[in-house]
Amino acid sequence: MKILGIETSCDETAAAVVEDGIRILSNQIASQVEIHARYGGIVPEVASRQHILAIIPILKQAMAQAKVTWGDLDGIAVTIGPGLAGSLLVGVNAAKAIALARGLPITGVNHLEGHIYANWLIDRDIAFPLVCLIVSGGHSDLVLMRGHGDYVVLGRTRDDAAGEAFDKAAKILGLGYPGGPAIEQAAKNGTASIQLPRAWLEGGNDFSFSGVKTALLRLVEGGKVSTVASQDDGLPTKADAAASFQEAVIDVIVTKTVAVAKEYRVKQILLAGGVASNGLLRRLVAQNSPIPVLVPEPVLCTDNAAMIAACGYYRFQAGKIDGLDLDVVPNFKLA
Ligand code: KG4
Ligand code: ZN
Repeated sequence: MKILGIETSCDETAAAVVEDGIRILSNQIASQVEIHARYGGIVPEVASRQHILAIIPILKQAMAQAKVTWGDLDGIAVTIGPGLAGSLLVGVNAAKAIALARGLPITGVNHLEGHIYANWLIDRDIAFPLVCLIVSGGHSDLVLMRGHGDYVVLGRTRDDAAGEAFDKAAKILGLGYPGGPAIEQAAKNGTASIQLPRAWLEGGNDFSFSGVKTALLRLVEGGKVSTVASQDDGLPTKADAAASFQEAVIDVIVTKTVAVAKEYRVKQILLAGGVASNGLLRRLVAQNSPIPVLVPEPVLCTDNAAMIAACGYYRFQAGKIDGLDLDVVPNFKLA
């Protein structure tokens, strides 16, 4: 079964063809990151305009890379939310137009569910029950999954998402956008020598990342982090601040994820979302978990359409076919 996946929820226009939910025949992504970097964050109107420009070329590229024609496809999976309404509309309308023209079944996918299903692109036989940590620019959720399409959210962030915290910290340190990769890169030249606060929120599975960000801001505003390249002022460098911030955030994420996985006696831990491409997170979860950990390669952690096609495969298997009245759901919840 060959499924065309389409993803336009945020600032990547993506299309992919995946066979039987696991074989990636193509995976094309047009990133808008350089355009939004000028503004230090995503501008929704600019994003939807860029999606309109990119959607047809990216669809053609995905079909060409997969060496398939429209007649070879068995279905279309498209992200309907959560995300920016104007961005989602571009992908959903493209998907509906193809479905109508070619008489293909269509299924609307939750973007977060798509992130989770990136893991099925690397292993078809994942054991349930499992705990999945979704850490992206908009979400930080700990999800118990008892079977395909069966989710219980066990914990979530009470303020900033993990990726959002990385983006804000990078802005504070003047490291550019997107912040996650910038912080990880800068941290390689520093040591985690600054003690930043960790919000353990005892007794629960929720996260909070705004405190550590504010602590970093206070240090920078108070002149406690060096702004010059040379270190002869004796202050911690920006690289040290980046390493300290990264460690504070990842420490909490790893500890809580492993604890919740043990508590629910799951068979597997999955990582998903853009922040799961962070090397320190990947290393520390693997080191600290007695439970097997699965994490997709970085390009499948950040936004892509192969994960949407993979999720679509399991939705089609379960008979979840939508009509052409399919619409965007900008605040779509997972469970
Ligand atoms: O999943 P994603 O591509 O888009 C959303 O659905 O939000 O995640 C994007 C987020 C951004 O906040 C970005 O800074 C963060 O993931 N991110 C990272 C890394 N790569 C991307 N955070 C930490 N370390 C990274 N290497
Ligand atoms: Zn995402």
